Amino acid sequence: MTAGAQPVLEVEDLRVRLRTPRGPADVVNGLSYTVGPGETVAVVGESGSGKSVSVLALLGLLPARVATVTGKALLQGEDLLTMKPERLRQVRGPGAGMVFQDPMTSLNPVLTVGRQLVEGIRAHSDMDKAAARRRAADLLAEVGLPDPTGALDRYPHELSGGMRQRVIIAIALSNSPALLIADEATTALDVTVQAQIIDLVEKLQAEHGTGVIWITHDLGVVAGIADRVLVMYGGRCVEDGTVDDVLDHPVHPYTRGLLGALPDLARPGPDGALPELATVPGVPPSPTDLPRGCVFWPRCPVRGDARCETEQPPLVQISQGRHGRSGPPGLPHRAATWCTEGTSGAGSPGEGGR
Ligand SMILES: Nc1ncnc2c1ncn2[C@@H]1O[C@H](COP(=O)(O)OP(=O)(O)O)[C@@H](O)[C@H]1O
Ligand SMILES: [Mg+2]
Repeated sequence: MTAGAQPVLEVEDLRVRLRTPRGPADVVNGLSYTVGPGETVAVVGESGSGKSVSVLALLGLLPARVATVTGKALLQGEDLLTMKPERLRQVRGPGAGMVFQDPMTSLNPVLTVGRQLVEGIRAHSDMDKAAARRRAADLLAEVGLPDPTGALDRYPHELSGGMRQRVIIAIALSNSPALLIADEATTALDVTVQAQIIDLVEKLQAEHGTGVIWITHDLGVVAGIADRVLVMYGGRCVEDGTVDDVLDHPVHPYTRGLLGALPDLARPGPDGALPELATVPGVPPSPTDLPRGCVFWPRCPVRGDARCETEQPPLVQISQGRHGRSGPPGLPHRAATWCTEGTSGAGSPGEGGR
């Protein structure tokens, strides 16, 4: 992101409360972050930490009868959370494309792949049918689908899971969106196809300045694509910063736990697979019964005095982005913890940050 450029997305104090049979569940609790043009923010954290719900909320995809969403989410300056439904439908596509975890729910089973792609392309451009069909076939080729022209006339159920996932990615990329959200989008794909898709997304970013939110468990992907990393736990951001700051100099005990058993990032395993996040002992907190103090306290191996149990640590700036690989210097490294011991340069809580 160049200095002074308007962020693609600015999320401020995003909160999501879900109605559940066990009472209200606070699944997203005050999330604030920005995504700059051309920037990739990787979101990591265990299952259930609120990653998916937080991005579904951005695009108005949570049913209003179960979800209460508050805060702000400015997409190129326009608040997604207060947008009229018809405007939101217009915005999805050229404004924001999203690739979900489960491709079956995002494709229409009764329409051919070609029809779904062509309709998406034509809804946001003035291409005629033949040109849109050619563009659709090109996109399918770019996401590595064998026989792309033949695939246009097939129905989703005639394709394998991996092929359907690539179709979804092609649809999301088809309108060169300002913001692309990928939620475990390449998890089920083999490493070669995954690498192909990452290249394609990087090309889109270079050409159109697309901002990307990439939710993943795969640290190889994080190290390969992200400019910044946001670590979620219990619906909160517990740490964020440049990829080098967070991966090489983690501050929060939870981040340190996730990275604990981390093999050398640069080296894929013998089968070509890249490393996954480590497993942290214990269970994540229940969103219907969150800890009063530090959200990680019950599982924390280095928890300290009563303060950890009773007082919630604010997300504060630890350093001014000392370790930036790409992008401008000065992107702050922030963490929400009372335990900054042993991490050089840690500021005292309350200083800087939000
Ligand atoms: N439709 C739903 N109804 C009730 N609880 C839900 C629903 N969807 C998600 N949750 C809960 O919200 C929390 C966050 O879920 P999610 O965002 O899917 O986590 P992640 O993507 O990080 O694995 C979890 O505790 C999950 O059980
Ligand atoms: Mg998820």
